[in-house]
Amino acid sequence: MLNWDDPLADATRPNRDLPVPPPTRDEALGDPAGNAVGDEVEGSPSVRPRPLALPERPETPQAGGGATGLERPEMGAGRVRVDDKRLINCRADLNQLVPFKYEWAWRKYLDACANHWMPQEINMNADIALWKDPHELGDDERTIIKRNLGFFATADSLVANNLVLAVYRHITNPECRQYLLRQAFEEALHTHAYQYVVESLGLDEGEIFNMYREVPSVARKAEWALPYTQHLADPHFQTGTPENDQRLLRELVAFYVVFEGIFFYVGFVQVLSMGRRNKMTGTAEEFQYILRDESMHMNFGIDVINQIRIENPHLWTAAFKEDLVAMIREAVALEAQYARDTMPRGVLGLNAPMFEEYLGFIANRRCAQIGLPEQYPGATNPFPWMSEVLDLKKEKNFFETRVTEYQTGGTLNWD
Ligand SMILES: [Fe+2]
Ligand SMILES: [Fe+2]
Repeated sequence: MLNWDDPLADATRPNRDLPVPPPTRDEALGDPAGNAVGDEVEGSPSVRPRPLALPERPETPQAGGGATGLERPEMGAGRVRVDDKRLINCRADLNQLVPFKYEWAWRKYLDACANHWMPQEINMNADIALWKDPHELGDDERTIIKRNLGFFATADSLVANNLVLAVYRHITNPECRQYLLRQAFEEALHTHAYQYVVESLGLDEGEIFNMYREVPSVARKAEWALPYTQHLADPHFQTGTPENDQRLLRELVAFYVVFEGIFFYVGFVQVLSMGRRNKMTGTAEEFQYILRDESMHMNFGIDVINQIRIENPHLWTAAFKEDLVAMIREAVALEAQYARDTMPRGVLGLNAPMFEEYLGFIANRRCAQIGLPEQYPGATNPFPWMSEVLDLKKEKNFFETRVTEYQTGGTLNWD
């Protein structure tokens, strides 16, 4: 059962704030030749292939960082205990999912799996007919569809690459990694969904997929986010110092709170507004599924950020908080500019000032969710229907149209 309540409740819920355990795992065992423990001594009969010699572990530039999950198993070491687990800089074996410490992460993984969907389940016939009719859609409405496809088509790949190449390595907890793997797959589904819409409508895929390099209002958001992930993806970057742990936290805020929590929302409101007016309903349905996923991604990220804060309170300094607030304010200004660029005139009963109000409202919520002061006093929500959209179970017709039996074995060819 999904819970779409304010994730602030999660953020303030008493978490298991366990004392920081001493490292329980030392460097991986094994002799320099790479022989596994238990291998036969030289000259004895061999009943199984000898393992390949593994390279010696390279010296790490600093003492920090956590396990990666690729260390050699430490034969005979004590079993992993809940108390050994930490979100960052954990040295405990990362290949053992249980015992669970962060049950919220496991629950989110289960919720995400229970809400599986595929882009091609959604019928695009009405959208195709509408798009091809020269009289049905105005230029401003076409701009909204194309600009948002342009932004999201590459934004979700950027998020997926950030997860897999930057974030995953530094989150040293198996149940959170389990969710990250699910999230990474969902990001692939989102990119698939945009490609499916582009293909269905017969749009110029080169125009759409290059917008983040060719259209300034789209490009600016990717440009804003890229330096954060590039820093973490640097193979020499390791957590374990206050400065680097703050870098990781800053990056998590940049992607989960800003990119997925603010930069997506003008586009969501615009496309879903078209669906509410019975225009581009298939595209809007795709966005509705994606919004539901993204909301869960953001809530997961907020839980991770708050748990890191709990386990590492020394990172949450006044200067660091000011830094994060400045980031969020800058992002709100960028997204407001995106609203003006994608909607130069009022359309669909929407206009740019309404989006500025909305961005202040959601930014206040995001700030409160990670323990920062609200920045836009009195901002209200001009789109209260957005919170209803999140609860798809209220949309009676939504699931009636779904194809629930997935093609699996029938599509495989074993010849
Ligand atoms: Fe996504
Ligand atoms: Fe996402």
